Amino acid sequence: MAELGHQVLGMDSDVDKVHALNSARAPFFEQGLDDLLAKHTATGRLRFTASYAEAADFGDTHFLAVGTPQLHGEQAYDLSHLFNAVTQLAPCLNRPALIVGKSTVPVGTAARITDLLHATAPAGQAVRVAWNPEFLRESFAIRDTLNPDRIVVGLHPSGGADETLLRTIYAALLDRGTPFIVTDLVTSELVKTAANAFLATKISFINAMAEVCEAAGANVHQLAFALSHDVRIGPAGMQPGLGFGGGCLPKDIRGFMVRAGELGAGQALSFLREVDAINTRRRSRMVDLAREQCGGTLKGKRIAVWGAAFKPNTDDVRDSPALAVAQTLHQMGANVTVYDPMALDNARKLYPQLDYANDATAAVEGAALLLHLTEWPEFSQLDPHHLSGRVASPQVIDGRGTLDPVHWREAGWTYRSLGHS
Ligand code: UGA
Repeated sequence: MAELGHQVLGMDSDVDKVHALNSARAPFFEQGLDDLLAKHTATGRLRFTASYAEAADFGDTHFLAVGTPQLHGEQAYDLSHLFNAVTQLAPCLNRPALIVGKSTVPVGTAARITDLLHATAPAGQAVRVAWNPEFLRESFAIRDTLNPDRIVVGLHPSGGADETLLRTIYAALLDRGTPFIVTDLVTSELVKTAANAFLATKISFINAMAEVCEAAGANVHQLAFALSHDVRIGPAGMQPGLGFGGGCLPKDIRGFMVRAGELGAGQALSFLREVDAINTRRRSRMVDLAREQCGGTLKGKRIAVWGAAFKPNTDDVRDSPALAVAQTLHQMGANVTVYDPMALDNARKLYPQLDYANDATAAVEGAALLLHLTEWPEFSQLDPHHLSGRVASPQVIDGRGTLDPVHWREAGWTYRSLGHS
């Protein structure tokens, strides 16, 4: 928002984060974000506070971007952080304001937030609510935010003035021709969960094909490449392998199923249960292949794991397929050493029982098997000739299909990949 030319005050209840952000340090790794923070904390267009009162006093428009994770031990969304934020902001809203939800929520949440604000904000009905779902991908966050493929805005029936305000806020993007799609509130909430459900389904579709390819002795990477030339299918989101993880797709398909069930439409989304099951099976399949390559038992075997982040170019390890596999191998008695270019600190906090190496080469030292589980570009640039002298046994399983099989085999490695065994 500061880059788009606005005066911005960021609010977070965590004072340590606020302090870091005011010093232009993001509390997570996202390429280019620290530079952008430095730029706009310097221009004075961006600063951060932990005070709801200050935020309410400062803003005409309040974007709610609070996390909505999965409830611990359940499939539904945990909305407590979001409602906590609204509950604390509301008593400070003394003048007209537009509250714009960005968080991914079960359909109907915007209506609940509207009721809560009208009941508890001193400005009452003068506090308006709109919903503006977020479609950015981690690791492309800045690019996706400054060049979105669409802006979706959900409005109350009387939201004409809210639309005008949001068009002004996004004017720089609209001038560049970004589609601006106006819907009612419930539709805008559903656009987001439907988008993530579709993306998850596409990935699980190609991974289901991988299962069939394995059974038939076919090559799923060639299959995906051939399919991708049909413009109705396309290449994006068709990378077969270890499946999806992260803080969004897994919990969004689950939360979506729960909400549809509450609405009496659970059957409509029962296919998402299968999407989830296909995704989980990729992790089990990787563990099975590893055991097979280790001669039927993992006990005491040294296994190197390349990758801990849920995907490359992030330090996010939430529901990371790579770490889930590493942890299972550890539980089955293997000695697992993990390396990741960015996510080691976060991985160590979550799985202190695993071993960690400071570079990709050190990780493979003495290993009976190497697993390539997150496709960081540096892994496909490493020379397998150089690595083969360091391992106990030159065997690799490529969980992401981005290592060059010819190159690895020429260097004396046994190369296997998910979907082409
Ligand atoms: C996802 C959506 O792509 C965004 O549009 C959405 O805004 C975001 O969730 C959100 O709800 O906030 P993200 O979680 O950053 O974004 O990650 P993706 O790039 O979609 O990747 C998700 C997972 O799928 C990763 O584990 C990735 O390795 C895996 N993946 C992705 C595949 O296995 N195959 C593919 O072809 C693509």
